[in-house]
Amino acid sequence: MRSCKHMKIVFVVLLSAIISSVTLCKVPYDQFKHLMNNSIVERLFHEEPCACMERCLAASDDEWFTERFRQNVPPLLSLNNSVLPDNIYTWWQSLQSKSQANYSQVIQELFSVIPGEGHYRDAGPSRCRTCAVVGNSGNLVGSFYGPLIDSHDFVMRMNKGPVEGYEKDVGSRTTHRIMYPESATHLDNTTHLVLLPFKILDIQWVTSALTDGTVKRTRYKVIDKLQANKDKVMVIHPAFMHYVHTTWLHIKSRRSYPSTGFLVLMFALHICDEVNVFGFGANSKGTWHHYFEKMPKSFKRTGKHSGGIEHQTILELQERQLISVYRGW
Ligand code: C5P
Repeated sequence: MRSCKHMKIVFVVLLSAIISSVTLCKVPYDQFKHLMNNSIVERLFHEEPCACMERCLAASDDEWFTERFRQNVPPLLSLNNSVLPDNIYTWWQSLQSKSQANYSQVIQELFSVIPGEGHYRDAGPSRCRTCAVVGNSGNLVGSFYGPLIDSHDFVMRMNKGPVEGYEKDVGSRTTHRIMYPESATHLDNTTHLVLLPFKILDIQWVTSALTDGTVKRTRYKVIDKLQANKDKVMVIHPAFMHYVHTTWLHIKSRRSYPSTGFLVLMFALHICDEVNVFGFGANSKGTWHHYFEKMPKSFKRTGKHSGGIEHQTILELQERQLISVYRGW
């Protein structure tokens, strides 16, 4: 990037010299015009969509990707975007049991505890944000991916996936941990807690867990007082979950919804310039388990999620070189 800037400066000096010669030496106007139309000139002044060498995700012109990718859907809730259109509210309600809670009031209480401004609107020619999306698959065991995972700007982990004791394979940095009340774990002061709100009670839980701890049960008993830095807490937008559900996975069924891993991958596609995926899928022996499980139990592949479509979509993203998937061991 820096050498590119230097080239531009050199070019501007050269251009001034050419203009002077056009004026002083009367270089024929046709030749001057030809020079200005030269593709080198165009390339020098054309702003790259991001500063990455490998790829700039949001700027991809892959047709399959652009049919699905909607940059205008906000990945995170903020004070300015929290109102939900009726169809999205109805869809979100259908994921959860009936609640008496008033959504606007729940949002107001949420943003009296966590920051309400928008995040990550900084995409542009000078940014190259690399992100590692780290799932919890047992294929990480023996992978030695640790240093590679840690080399990313953002390292996104999910649910209870531990770091301590597994550093050589999963890395040691965590910038974001994506979770919901039933999968929550305590965080250090530097990590962003990113809540996946599958229900309105999940938003009430995060507000409570960061303050007085009054919400003690959601589907079952959950952590009531959570160690986490309030200023780093973010909440995935229900409209974003709906968009992943309908636009990416084309799911018609009301009862199924995207998995944590797939939602995190989509979140990364929206806030990063380059995305690399680790810890997804079975291991080389076809076992689906967690890297932190001592004795691999059989791991049900889909459950309530649309595992097949998710898997296909991840393969498609990889085939089109939009992401890289590290398969592990
Ligand atoms: O099991 P858990 O939901 O905590 O895992 C988080 C994510 O990691 C899953 O949603 C899935 O995307 C990914 N995972 C996987 N294969 C496994 C275990 C987890 O792809 N064997």
